Amino acid sequence: MAGTNGDEHPGLRPGLGRLKGRVAIVTGANSGIGRATARVFAREGAKVVCCDIQETVTPRVDKLIELDGGEALFARVDVTVQADCDRMVATALEKFGDLHILFNNAGGGIRKMIHEFTDDEWNFIVNLNLNGIFRGVRAAIPHFLKMKRGNIVSTASTFGLLASEKYPAYCATKAAIVNLTRQMALDYGPSGIRVNCVCPGSVETPRFRGFPPRPNPGFTDAERARMASSNKALLRIAQPEEIAYGVLFLVSDESSFVTGHALVIDGGQTIDA
Ligand SMILES: NC(=O)c1ccc[n+]([C@@H]2O[C@H](COP(=O)([O-])OP(=O)(O)OC[C@H]3O[C@@H](n4cnc5c(N)ncnc54)[C@H](O)[C@@H]3O)[C@@H](O)[C@H]2O)c1
Repeated sequence: MAGTNGDEHPGLRPGLGRLKGRVAIVTGANSGIGRATARVFAREGAKVVCCDIQETVTPRVDKLIELDGGEALFARVDVTVQADCDRMVATALEKFGDLHILFNNAGGGIRKMIHEFTDDEWNFIVNLNLNGIFRGVRAAIPHFLKMKRGNIVSTASTFGLLASEKYPAYCATKAAIVNLTRQMALDYGPSGIRVNCVCPGSVETPRFRGFPPRPNPGFTDAERARMASSNKALLRIAQPEEIAYGVLFLVSDESSFVTGHALVIDGGQTIDA
């Protein structure tokens, strides 16, 4: 959905070169938070390997970045497949000559009570949200260890800190990401690698609005209003770029002493009971 300035992400600002000379991987890059973050990274000077299982959202994110004057390429990657994750790292090294940043963002959820889950549904969410990070990190870490530096950010959720009704696999995997972030920060900090995550509240991504706009975005006005009111202090749904700028902080040198942190970006969703 274009903003008033005709841009899909009206909150994007010109870059300040914070990521000049860096190479970044973004998973789930062709939609929502990943799409906005890939653009922010590129605007800040990074070369971005945009990874996704789908290229149906147009313009594809790498093309959008090129239109912005940035440098990017697209890799069809399923984060649940180790060979795909290995290939995404190899692509960064071969095409852009290095890798500095891994943004593990691909994820999703199924809303139903835990006793209604089939094994396949449960395993699908665990495989996507949690194992996808394990696979991405496993692929990137050898290079980071060799270079004695690296930066990993993952997308958790406020639902990794709080419960949300009929969302058991999502809440469990997002909570796991928060503590896995701390754990990895501990193991890899001495090697110069920082590891953080973001915990967004309700964000206006295609899951809400449909991009390109869909006749049925899947949420009623009442549901959208409920999502907005769930971000309790600011009382609106976040734009994906508002999460992207949090991720930018964590991958930039400006956060050089921040590691093992879960950065809450939620319009106040978690500030009271
Ligand atoms: N939208 C929100 O309100 C919200 C809130 C908190 C956290 N999150 C998290 O943010 C992340 C991004 O969500 P979004 O809202 O931008 O969703 P989205 O559906 O707009 O984008 C997710 C992208 O991930 C891709 N993807 C899905 N499975 C993949 C796989 N196996 N391998 C590679 N790519 C895959 C999809 O094709 C899609 O392009 C997710 O981890 C989600 O859980 C979203």
